Amino acid sequence: MKRINDFGPGVSGLGSLDGLADPSFSQAVVDWQRSHGRHTLPWQNTTDAYRVWLSEIMLQQTQVAAVLGYYARFLERFPTVHALAEAPGEDVMAHWSGLGYYTRARNLHACAKRVVQDYDGVFPSDPALLADLPGIGRSTAAAIAAFSGGVRAAIMDGNVKRVFARVFGIDAYPGIKPVEDAMWRRAEALLPETQDNPGAIEAYTQGLMDLGATLCTRSRPDCGRCPLQDRCVAFATGRTAELPVRKPKKSTPEKRTAMLVIVDGGQVLLEQRPQSGIWGGLLSLPEVGGHVPMEEDAEPVCTSDVAAAAGAFGQLDEVRALRPLVHVFTHYKLHIAPFAVTLASRAQADSHYQWWNMNQIGDAPLPAPVKKLLLDLAMPSLFT
Ligand code: ADE
Ligand code: SF4
Repeated sequence: MKRINDFGPGVSGLGSLDGLADPSFSQAVVDWQRSHGRHTLPWQNTTDAYRVWLSEIMLQQTQVAAVLGYYARFLERFPTVHALAEAPGEDVMAHWSGLGYYTRARNLHACAKRVVQDYDGVFPSDPALLADLPGIGRSTAAAIAAFSGGVRAAIMDGNVKRVFARVFGIDAYPGIKPVEDAMWRRAEALLPETQDNPGAIEAYTQGLMDLGATLCTRSRPDCGRCPLQDRCVAFATGRTAELPVRKPKKSTPEKRTAMLVIVDGGQVLLEQRPQSGIWGGLLSLPEVGGHVPMEEDAEPVCTSDVAAAAGAFGQLDEVRALRPLVHVFTHYKLHIAPFAVTLASRAQADSHYQWWNMNQIGDAPLPAPVKKLLLDLAMPSLFT
């Protein structure tokens, strides 16, 4: 039995892999890839690291079908890493134009220059050295090393995360560090042996990609054809729709405000809101305290705060709290504490305040929850 430290440079120092290794896993993937995987993609059947690297960068954020044409045209114009390194930046960008994520193109050019300067135009075969080049992360480095040099290194992209989450029933969101780390450890432990096993790492790496892209798809995986079905936790437990665990939604922030319903002689006082911001340009009720995040433990507005604020609009008759309401915006939830204020006499209000007849309030340009509040309130006792 091989010990961990015999596994080569890529997999030492990872802590215990006990219990994670299982040669039948890679065997199933390799056998399936050889009989049912993709074999005629233009970046396959080559050991030219330049071609492999170019394909892996293009495929990072773009589907195979969209990459094919770009890949062919790019190689025709820049057939070697030297040709690419020497080309003007605009020329490189022009051949990338339409693929999107243009940082990839700038990194691509920078990487070609580095390979020419530091490595005499020969891509290193060590994944750690590859991962030190611009635009090449740990997974892309492993793919390049595996496809071009048969190096035993693990990939971990969105497709592999999905397959692993399902097969092993990983019940946590793979986007967080500890879960991703655990997946990397599994990926390292499950790599096929390369000694006396020519082509195994290439077939295995491509097989994981092909499985994720063609069978173990995000929705409606084709488990009936899957070589991993007999060991798949998600299949066995009917949880392919729940795994991988989706990114947890951030809970909506909650804010609160107090609104003044200042009434006098069948009219209500409305305030013109600023053009920008929430309810920009609409009329609304005057507020005390603004939209304060609930977690800031400021005291809630009380009737004496309201009385102090409403005093600016006239001589107060009565202040009383009304039933609170909640309004849900896309970005937060607003708890509204309305207060009814009746005046004994009006003071002169400045120009962004307007008195509206309550019986015309249906026509006022008001935010929906404010209009609803006022219409619900339109009871004879308050407004006559
Ligand atoms: N996505 C990333 N690398 C790929 C490859 N080598 N073949 C198909 N799709 C891929
Ligand atoms: Fe994915 Fe289904 Fe295969 Fe499990 S059995 S790995 S869910 S395709």
